[in-house]
Amino acid sequence: MAVLVNGGAGFIGSHTCVELLNAGEDIVVFDNFYNSNPQVLDGIRKITGRDFKFYEADMLEMSSIDDIFDENDIEQVIHFAGYKSVPESVKHPLKYYSNNLRGTFNILETMKKYGCTKFIFSSSATVYGIPETVPVKEDFPLSAINPYGSTKLIIENLCREMYTANNAWTFILLRYFNPVGAHKSGLIGEDPGNQPNNLMPLVLDKATGKRDVLQITGDDYPTRDGTCIRDYIHVVDLAKGHVSAVKKARELENGCKAYNLGTGRGYSVKEILDTFQRVNNIDLGYTIGPRREGDAAECYSDPSLAEKELGWKAELGIEDMCRDAWNFRRNKLI
Ligand code: WQD
Repeated sequence: MAVLVNGGAGFIGSHTCVELLNAGEDIVVFDNFYNSNPQVLDGIRKITGRDFKFYEADMLEMSSIDDIFDENDIEQVIHFAGYKSVPESVKHPLKYYSNNLRGTFNILETMKKYGCTKFIFSSSATVYGIPETVPVKEDFPLSAINPYGSTKLIIENLCREMYTANNAWTFILLRYFNPVGAHKSGLIGEDPGNQPNNLMPLVLDKATGKRDVLQITGDDYPTRDGTCIRDYIHVVDLAKGHVSAVKKARELENGCKAYNLGTGRGYSVKEILDTFQRVNNIDLGYTIGPRREGDAAECYSDPSLAEKELGWKAELGIEDMCRDAWNFRRNKLI
């Protein structure tokens, strides 16, 4: 029996493949390399010393997914693949709905056809919209504030409604906060092919000179230093959360539950930039710019449910995140 990792060449997917292989799991990976590249697969093999089957396939092609299930004994699916740029989703909602939803429908319909009923979904803290209070708990109200978030929320709702209709399914919905960092080997990391908009890739672009300007978007928020607070989580901790979820899904007869994967600690943008400068001995020369529309002042998790029910807890801190992120990007330059 193998775990099928859809989007396994991506940032979080590739780190999850490493931790699954290290945990002794057998995996089958598929990816269309829309926002990743084939070298990542070599990195996974080099880090773990283990091999796995890979299919270059698109989740919009039903026949490709069917081939994977026909040729492999798939126990459960981790579904990472999807477009994930918030600003791009605002400009191109149909592109996001079409890809993210149709791809998910294809996966779930094929799973149903082959009697595979354990689905782990790469969800996001974005389903909380702009939370009224922090820390954020799983039973907080859900809302979407952009098309990317809408696709995540719709897929979560689909899972809940599928479970209500047929409780033979097991759905584990993992809500990520702000994943950053890279594997300590420097062989895999965050490598957004298209225009990055998350903080850390922009920091790395400034540190490498690829970008001339790095701005903190707003320092007049009601926070300890005026800059926005987020729950940054090391991507390796996040990946280990998926290993715990796979084990939980295997134990469960059935179920449908969401878990926050965060550290439970919030750090401000300024604290992240200053930590990055300090641990890497780099002057980022950042400036202060205007607020970015739609940003919440504070968003960080209460991860206690994942600790209690998945036996998982983040262990790495922002110094590790900043050091490992830079180590990966610097490696790419060599
Ligand atoms: C973090 C902080 C910015 C750029 C998004 C998605 C969320 C999830 C994580 C997928 C914010 C500030 C940013 C810059 C800055 N993605 N910032 N200067 O917005 O918290 O969450 O990514 O699941 O769904 O919404 O992350 O990295 O974009 O921003 O000061 O040049 O950095 O204002 O406070 P965000 P982010």
